[in-house]
Amino acid sequence: MTALEPVTEERSVAREVERRRSFAIISHPDAGKTTLTEKLLLYGGAIRQAGAIRGQRAARHATSDWLELERQRGISVSSSVLHFDYAGYRVNILDTPGHRDFSEDTYRTLMAADSAVMLMDASKGVEEQTRKLFQVCRLRRIPIFTFVNKMDRFGRDGLDLMSEIEDLLGIDAVPVSWPIGSGKDFRGVYDRLAQRALLFSGGEHGTTRVTQRDVEGGIDTPAVAEALGEFHGDVREHLELLDGAGAELDLAAVRAGRQTPMFFGSALTNYGVLPFLERFLSMAPHPGVRLADGERIDPAARPFSGFVFKIQANMDRDHRDRIAFLRVCSGRFVKGDSAVHVRTGKKIRLANSTLIMGKDRQEVEEAYPGDVVGLFDPGVFRIGDTVSQEGSFSYSGIPSFSPECFVRVEVAAVLKRKSLEKGLEQLVQEGAVQLFRDPHSDSAALVLGAMGPLQFDVMKHRLADEYGVNVDLSPLPFKLARWPQGDFDPEIFRYSERVRVVADRDGRPVLLAQGRWDLDRALQRHSGLILSETADPSLFENES
Ligand code: G4P
Repeated sequence: MTALEPVTEERSVAREVERRRSFAIISHPDAGKTTLTEKLLLYGGAIRQAGAIRGQRAARHATSDWLELERQRGISVSSSVLHFDYAGYRVNILDTPGHRDFSEDTYRTLMAADSAVMLMDASKGVEEQTRKLFQVCRLRRIPIFTFVNKMDRFGRDGLDLMSEIEDLLGIDAVPVSWPIGSGKDFRGVYDRLAQRALLFSGGEHGTTRVTQRDVEGGIDTPAVAEALGEFHGDVREHLELLDGAGAELDLAAVRAGRQTPMFFGSALTNYGVLPFLERFLSMAPHPGVRLADGERIDPAARPFSGFVFKIQANMDRDHRDRIAFLRVCSGRFVKGDSAVHVRTGKKIRLANSTLIMGKDRQEVEEAYPGDVVGLFDPGVFRIGDTVSQEGSFSYSGIPSFSPECFVRVEVAAVLKRKSLEKGLEQLVQEGAVQLFRDPHSDSAALVLGAMGPLQFDVMKHRLADEYGVNVDLSPLPFKLARWPQGDFDPEIFRYSERVRVVADRDGRPVLLAQGRWDLDRALQRHSGLILSETADPSLFENES
């Protein structure tokens, strides 16, 4: 090795970092996430025909019984990572399941993303699921881009949607494009930044076919006025309003998560999808500095490191495998190299690594910051674990978010207690369900918490199927969990019927409460009490 090599390596990693865009799409089910993802993949040449993603999901569903459960319910539990190249960029879409019950998984995926696309149905605006996911993006201060979909249907007024975003989410929405017509008269968009009208015709679902006519010029130029025809007056009036009263696009504010650039289009007909993709890629950030033990880790200047944000057990029943999804945060990941599993201090070889693309798995030889690799996991990884060649730091872990439903686990056969513990321990590592112990009831009763009750069905089914343990799950009346910070005296809830103090997997005290009101009352009575919605709120501080 010559002395010059590290510099060259750093430069080549820097080049790869700069061209990477890793993002997640957040939306409410049915807003069109699958359709949009499919279109982006089509434009990127990653698939040749629409239906490929749905097809892959269907094929994967056939792989095991519990996935059969998802199929029956018409939802997707497993999320995958999709990637493609477009105009010199390497795009990674961290796919997130859309069902509300699986949002814990989605939350974790957001920890691995560098930006998010908030997709909304033009007729519905900000829906519940989007609002929750948005809060996580806010906590992490990642940039959020808004795509208003289904403009080919009757929808709500753009200004109305903007004020809903501002009121409900507390972020300034700044339209980059403005729709020309809507519903069956949706003709195109006016690009405010480039000062030109983009008019679409044709458009065929399942392909990238669409005809786009660009008419350059300000809204008052005769060519644009003529091209917009009957819609000119309306668009002009809206643009004047936006220019006069709306916030101006400020990239620094976007990067800080204070402004969201807003786009309009129809994923189904391809109208506005490509202009969105191009603008998004130029505005969205590449992988940046991440904090690890208070140290700022520069993606290009440090050797390989990354963290596990998701673990999927038994993806393939025939192989009984577990895959740990690792987001590369710095340096070059090279297959076969060794690195340190920081939590245990053990040296591991990065031998079995795959890139997961829907159902297909592809061996990866190398990966760069922003990429996600699937590592075959012999059982050593936990969500949040750092793998790094330097071995001297770990990335701030992944917080547990407050579940909203709770059950008590009962096992009929006492002899099965060991299998139960093993099954639970392994399945909760996937992160969709949290495990708590209730030290005050009989021999450390087990309590599960999840974002929605469907997770419990999946858990019950998998415990029986994969670990041979039949359990009864009885609902508990609690609706939220809070982690006390600093000094905490559990005695203050000793006589409370409505709040129970349990312990999480790491032994930290957690309050399970029946309602917000119970906690408000406790907070009023005990001035030193600080409650957090996540196990470790400091994880969100100081991220750049
Ligand atoms: P999701 O992943 O967010 O749950 O949504 P998905 O893409 O599956 O879309 C939900 C439904 O909305 C689908 O209709 C889809 O075709 C439709 N859709 C998506 N984007 C647009 C759009 O821009 N305009 C219009 N008009 N519809 C859109 P479906 O009838 O449920 O399914 P399918 O039979 O079309 O597959």
